Amino acid sequence: MATVTAPPAPAASTADGKNRLERLMRRGADFLGARVAIMAGAMSWVSERNLVAAMSNAGGFGVIACGAMTPALLDAEIAGTKALTEKPFGVNLITMHPQLSELIDVCTGHGVGHVVLAGGLPPAGSLERIKGSGAKLMCFAPALALAKKLIRSGVDALVIEGMEAGGHIGPVSTSVLAQEMLPEIADQLPVFVAGGIGRGQAIAGYLEMGAAGVQLGTRFVCANESIAHPNFKKAFIRASARDAVASVQVDPRLPVIPVRALKNAGTELFTAKQREVAQSLDEAKVAMAEAQLEIEHYWAGALRRAVIDGDVEHGSLMAGQSVGMVSKEEPIAEIIAKLLDEAAAALGKRAG
Ligand SMILES: Cc1cc2nc3c(=O)[nH]c(=O)nc-3n(C[C@H](O)[C@H](O)[C@H](O)COP(=O)(O)O)c2cc1C
Repeated sequence: MATVTAPPAPAASTADGKNRLERLMRRGADFLGARVAIMAGAMSWVSERNLVAAMSNAGGFGVIACGAMTPALLDAEIAGTKALTEKPFGVNLITMHPQLSELIDVCTGHGVGHVVLAGGLPPAGSLERIKGSGAKLMCFAPALALAKKLIRSGVDALVIEGMEAGGHIGPVSTSVLAQEMLPEIADQLPVFVAGGIGRGQAIAGYLEMGAAGVQLGTRFVCANESIAHPNFKKAFIRASARDAVASVQVDPRLPVIPVRALKNAGTELFTAKQREVAQSLDEAKVAMAEAQLEIEHYWAGALRRAVIDGDVEHGSLMAGQSVGMVSKEEPIAEIIAKLLDEAAAALGKRAG
């Protein structure tokens, strides 16, 4: 039987694709102060100075994950990152952090250009303080109504993240969020699409739909520059999309935000933890807010156990469904180059 091979793409379409990609990314890249509009989303324990600086040096935009860091630790991490790159990078702060105000001061002190607030709407006063420092404020918008509210309150850019993502997730997929939200808000401010992106073809698609850029997390965990433990990286390289499952809420009274992670013994440990916290609630030993914070501390500890200590059985292997497209350890600059080539090729073909 004769084999059918696709004819090689004409050179003109490659150049067209690159030009179109450059044009589609320009708004997002200008907003970030980067060469390309690809953000490495903050990942607790993983997104520290080495990965963040490498990402920004490669032309993308790195974001430090503050997570549960104290103000002093964040201060040291920002200083360490500045020592490794002169390029812009951002800092991701979690709204629930009890010292949010001091963390904002640390960012202001360092003249951090972009602050990303995760974990809920900006608490009273935080938006004004971040913007007052001259920094650009980015927030996550899990639904259109919330996106409109955030736009009215003055945020500078939004991230819309679907449930395919690694870490804490909402209930709706990236493809649906993008269709619902981009036509309504993308002309008002830059919107970055996150969750489930593993190849440049998907980046091209979201840019064509109006996104200013994209945010990836899972794809960067196995970068050479990532300090994640070799066991953590091996687990990512072995896993397929269906291994990255969302945690199950065992008690309807305890509103646990689901977390997507690779299934292991730690998945069961989390179920047991939820039961323990629910019992403390029953016995009125803790209030709801405290119970939720306890769950968040649990995740931070479990993730550290896997990322830093390499205990991939009992720790948390937070990963998105795009984990199936992570096949080896490679320099972050090569990952970026590959994503850009794929996106440009896709755009070139569509233009033709
Ligand atoms: C290991 C891991 C840890 C994460 N930690 C955080 C975090 O601390 N704060 C946050 O806002 N997002 C966190 N995320 C989400 C990422 O910033 C990013 O939005 C997400 O990974 C994008 O989806 P993807 O994994 O499908 O690429 C984490 C993701 C992973 C995989």
